[in-house]
Amino acid sequence: MIYLKTLKLINFRCYQEVVLEFSPHLNILVGPNAAGKTTVVEAVHCLGFLKSHKAGIDAEMISYDQDFAVIKGNFEKEGKLQEVVFSLSAQGKRILANQKPFRQLSEYLGFLHVVFFCPEDLEIVKGAPGVRRKFLDSNLCLVSEAYMKSLIIYRKLLKQRNEVLKNINENHKYDRKLLEVLTGQMIPQAETLIKEREHFIRELNPLIEEKSLAISGGKEKVSLLYMPSNYTGTERDSFFDIKKDLNSKTTTSGPHRDDFEFLINGFKAAAFASQGQQRTTALSLKLALADYLNKKTEDIIIILDDVFSELDSERQNQILKLLNSEYQIFITTTSISNLSEEILKDNKIITVRREEYKNA
Ligand SMILES: Nc1ncnc2c1ncn2[C@@H]1O[C@H](COP(=O)(O)OP(=O)(O)O)[C@@H](O)[C@H]1O
Ligand SMILES: [Mg+2]
Repeated sequence: MIYLKTLKLINFRCYQEVVLEFSPHLNILVGPNAAGKTTVVEAVHCLGFLKSHKAGIDAEMISYDQDFAVIKGNFEKEGKLQEVVFSLSAQGKRILANQKPFRQLSEYLGFLHVVFFCPEDLEIVKGAPGVRRKFLDSNLCLVSEAYMKSLIIYRKLLKQRNEVLKNINENHKYDRKLLEVLTGQMIPQAETLIKEREHFIRELNPLIEEKSLAISGGKEKVSLLYMPSNYTGTERDSFFDIKKDLNSKTTTSGPHRDDFEFLINGFKAAAFASQGQQRTTALSLKLALADYLNKKTEDIIIILDDVFSELDSERQNQILKLLNSEYQIFITTTSISNLSEEILKDNKIITVRREEYKNA
């Protein structure tokens, strides 16, 4: 178990200087719009991934009139107090863990895994297939080195193969031999990717069922349906269709075109679910993911940014009951008026008021 005891922000977006203290269990950050709630959890995200979940460029996170920003986190991890300092400036970003600098930022990754839910995650349910593939790829890369290796090789080969297909001229002249070799090399990589995706989805399914049933008070059971592109399940060469690809001048099938679907009680969520149901679906997925990752990696913190909007008070309370104390959890919300007394008395409520912190 890991938990963030204190967080210090300097010149980080709207915070000039602030120190916040957290509970090892559930922390509810409440305040009006633009008070700085998302900014706090964005900083925690940075301590996990060394980047924001929303900023296009890192410099965005530095306060408008400053030239550097610092995020300092004191964690309790493996029974020890550990300090992480992340800083941003025109020179780039730096990370220190227990005073030790990292030459490669990637060497630090893994200290802390943040499972982050934000309103944009609705796109996982209703957005384009690419959003779901990104979800599969980034999480599988976290837990499987074999997957990451295959993905890198596959992407490289795919780029080369598409290059060959694109360069077919009017006389239909192209490098047939090269196309066949590349296709042959892609098959074992595609097999690894598909096998691991299948396995991942199979393991997530009982978890997401459990979470969705709990949040909806037994009304909705969410499951995932994996849909590999053009894969019959038996034929090896059915991954790629050279004839079709020559016509389309691109690789029309393979793991780079896979997708999966969310079913609510067996019906497609993207097509019929309400905003509230889609939100519950995306949230169930993230909570299922936390339990899944926890079995493989540990050291997880859960962040639920703006999770309550569009949910009725029953679902809001169900969510809070469901969140077990195995993890440290941060929730941001504009209002706690729908939350039951019982929940409020057991958890840490942090009121976020921007003006207060400005001069802190
Ligand atoms: N680089 C920055 N410097 C100063 N203020 C910023 C910067 N980036 C964003 N802000 C401001 O921070 C405030 C808090 O935003 P946010 O944390 O998203 O609020 P909340 O999640 O509580 O609605 C906003 O008013 C925004 O304009
Ligand atoms: Mg916000």
